[in-house]
Amino acid sequence: MHKIKVWDGFIRSFHWLLVIAIATLYFSAEEGMMELHFVAGFFTLALLLTRLIWGVIGSKTAKLTALIHSPRAVLKSLQHGDAKLGHGAAGSYMVIAFFILLLVQLLSGLMTTDDILTDGPLVEYASSQVVEWAGWVHHNNFDLLFYAIILHVAAIVIYRLKGKKLVKAMVTGYADKEDRGSEIKVTKSPWLAVVIFVLLLAGLMVTWGSEPLSYLFS
Ligand code: HEM
Ligand code: HEM
Repeated sequence: MHKIKVWDGFIRSFHWLLVIAIATLYFSAEEGMMELHFVAGFFTLALLLTRLIWGVIGSKTAKLTALIHSPRAVLKSLQHGDAKLGHGAAGSYMVIAFFILLLVQLLSGLMTTDDILTDGPLVEYASSQVVEWAGWVHHNNFDLLFYAIILHVAAIVIYRLKGKKLVKAMVTGYADKEDRGSEIKVTKSPWLAVVIFVLLLAGLMVTWGSEPLSYLFS
């Protein structure tokens, strides 16, 4: 067995920060802590946008084009596993679904109001019908996101029972591979992604975040 690096530092940070952010978003919504919800929402938006940009300019295993597989490849992957490094064919569809669900959740949130005090930053530009629809989407799409997370974690557990340690790879970055042939470098340094993330986050916080931030820290 040989160890090979499959996930760069940004992908790993993205994943675990996303888990923390979604837990925070759920908790803050349930508790009606809208300022925290907004700040966590802008954080998640910056995180996801950076991930999508990294999907164009980042590591080989981060590429969005590497997520596209034929249905036949998915069936083969479910029966015999995956030979290539990175997300498998079936897992790739899960990743695409997550990106879409997260984008829908984030964009609808920007146009959602709690009908009391807090309006998402795009509410003032949208008609009341659009705002009502966005609120409906924000509520129902979260349920879909929730089911996707359950399915995702169940799949990871099933792979573990079959002997594949995917979580270890998402924590350390390294996976075990049998053949030496795959020992080419597939990851890039994460620093450019970190710079992009910080710039996006700063931009979002300056334009939309100052009010909830000042409330949170007052
Ligand atoms: C809020 C909950 C979660 C969300 C939204 C989520 C989302 C994602 C996304 C988007 C990816 C693709 C990573 C990328 O290419 O950028 C991924 C991969 C992964 N996630 Fe999660 N995840 C969640 C919870 C978890 C938990 C609790 C675990 C651990 C049990 C986990 C383990 C993994 C692993 C191991 C991978 C890599 C799968 C592979 O090797 O193809 N995730 N997740
Ligand atoms: C992935 C990111 C997000 C997640 C997972 C999320 C999740 C949730 C959840 C579960 C609720 C409760 C919905 C209900 O039961 O009706 C909620 C409500 C809300 N969210 Fe988000 N949200 C996200 C992003 C955002 C963003 C970016 C904004 C705006 C900046 C936002 C604004 C709101 C507002 C205003 C409500 C209150 C709606 C009401 O009281 O009916 N959310 N969100």
